[in-house]
Amino acid sequence: MNHLEIDGIAMRYRDVQALHPLTLRLEPGITGLLGPNGAGKSTLMRIIATVSKPSAGALRWNGTDVRRAPDVLRRELGYLPQDAGVYPQLSAEEFLRYVAALKGLPARTSARQIDRLIEQLNLQGARSRPLGGFSGGMRQRVGIAQALLGDPQLIVVDEPTVGLDPEERVRFRDLITDLGRERIVLLSTHIVSDVEVAASRIVIMSHGRICADGTPTAVIGHDANLEAAYLRYTGAARAA
Ligand SMILES: Nc1ncnc2c1ncn2[C@@H]1O[C@H](COP(=O)(O)OP(=O)(O)O)[C@@H](O)[C@H]1O
Ligand SMILES: [Mg+2]
Repeated sequence: MNHLEIDGIAMRYRDVQALHPLTLRLEPGITGLLGPNGAGKSTLMRIIATVSKPSAGALRWNGTDVRRAPDVLRRELGYLPQDAGVYPQLSAEEFLRYVAALKGLPARTSARQIDRLIEQLNLQGARSRPLGGFSGGMRQRVGIAQALLGDPQLIVVDEPTVGLDPEERVRFRDLITDLGRERIVLLSTHIVSDVEVAASRIVIMSHGRICADGTPTAVIGHDANLEAAYLRYTGAARAA
């Protein structure tokens, strides 16, 4: 079974300790990464996506040290950065073809996957018109589609639901639920309702540390619901 070990990963930017050493093992299923702005979610996700080098610690993909062999992880990775830009002049189809080429997908596989993703993400309207003129939600869905190209086994999506309307959120949740049956999905958000239904595991971060990690039921504990637990954990971390 695929697994990613995050072993003592820490990150310091000049005078900001964005991540204190943290250790997590990710396995297939949806892990919801919750935390207020500034908690360190994006920093952790950029490190997992091999975009940033941590100040300390190691990542291992199926036991292989990612620093020594980043490609073993990169070829299994689908990553949606926070504030991902898309090229405004390209249509959804052109942009996805471009990303598929960067990922080295064979032309026939990429054509088939692009068709499927355009349908799954309800992007028919953006298929051949420039993305620059579309809503934030549509551009975000193109960003999600590019992350899913190549059928990655490790899906890291940073605030994927930003800009999506309620109907788009439900569609996205259904899609990610499907994907999370076999793949490792790490999904960050500061909106608790994005993950309380879909996630099999909840990790709450605050101030660069993990303050809760477990099944939704375990994290909720004696609280009324996940939102209440989230506020208690992040409030407690703030007061500490
Ligand atoms: N490139 C950077 N340079 C300096 N500080 C940064 C940088 N990126 C993030 N930070 C700081 O690291 C902390 C965590 O930020 P971030 O990982 O973006 O949190 P989140 O995604 O949870 O909102 C914040 O204090 C933020 O200001
Ligand atoms: Mg962020």
